[in-house]
Amino acid sequence: MRTVYWENGVVKLIDQRRLPAVLEIVSYTDYKKIAVAIKDMVVRGAPAIGATAGFGLALAAFASNSSSRKGLLSDLQAAAEELVSARPTAVNPGWVVNRIMVRVAQDESLGLSETRNLVLQEAQLIADEDVAINLEMAKYGSSLISDGDVIIHHCNTGSLATVDWGTALGAIRMAHEQGKKIHVLVDETRPRLQGSRLTAWELDQYGISYEIISDNMAGYFLRSGNATKVFFGADRVAANGDVANKIGTYMLSLAAKDNNIPVYPVVPTSTIDLSLRDGDQIPLEERDPREVLDISFQGERVAPIEAQARNIAFDITPHRLVTAIVTERGIIHPPFEENLAGVLRNE
Ligand code: MRU
Repeated sequence: MRTVYWENGVVKLIDQRRLPAVLEIVSYTDYKKIAVAIKDMVVRGAPAIGATAGFGLALAAFASNSSSRKGLLSDLQAAAEELVSARPTAVNPGWVVNRIMVRVAQDESLGLSETRNLVLQEAQLIADEDVAINLEMAKYGSSLISDGDVIIHHCNTGSLATVDWGTALGAIRMAHEQGKKIHVLVDETRPRLQGSRLTAWELDQYGISYEIISDNMAGYFLRSGNATKVFFGADRVAANGDVANKIGTYMLSLAAKDNNIPVYPVVPTSTIDLSLRDGDQIPLEERDPREVLDISFQGERVAPIEAQARNIAFDITPHRLVTAIVTERGIIHPPFEENLAGVLRNE
């Protein structure tokens, strides 16, 4: 099942806020509600919000009542900006809407309905390509996984974070399907718990052996020789190989590097943003502190009712901590600045 799809003029999303308790598909016909769904994390994960933004743009195209092509393109531009600003760290929504806008601007002879159809056609193509790209990445990523590996995985990078299959979790899934005996230590991934809610749910479906660990246990497993590899995804990779990913990835990578455990981000090339020199230029989302505070333990709220909190949603893992970056075009090794540019130039 796809995380996001278009059906008869309606965008359908798996509501990831409700998993693992309930598998619910929600429907959208208004691009503004799609922007809210991205912000509220009904859908999340960089490639999934990219594909969703593409279908959101298609909704905007069909909803526009402009009578000129120029007016339609300007309505699309406004919708594109709203969809992209819903979550700032992932480059994917911007990459998707930009690709669609460039495509529709290419042919000035198109009429209104042809332009609308082209927006949808391109959004659908991007969604389909996402699945194919994930399968390619999984082939490369699984070649780095050996029989007997114990892999620490951060956040959720599986089918739910993409249109289908996944990035880092896709590589793990393929290694499992190749018959390799692997075990996954699932970082619970505070504060939204994408690990214990979503990754654990997916691993259950695939029959992959796992245990959930709290994020702060990773250092123990790495130092004691009880973890052999670290895999995660990314929301954006800068030109020098610095990686923006879910908060906690930096500490995990530091502990891995200190113990000579390899660290592998698995990312589609569309997540690599050569326009940004390094990770300091990547915008990091800060979310509502209630996501940190609204947690209960044994039925009682944990934090004092007046407590304040910070909720930084992503961090930067400097490229010096990264062993290699897995993409659909191959495994990229340091020096990243040179090698990322080289792979992206080879369109
Ligand atoms: O806040 P989220 O759940 O959208 O964060 C998702 C991640 O950090 C993933 O690791 C990232 O998007 C890569 S997933 C293919």
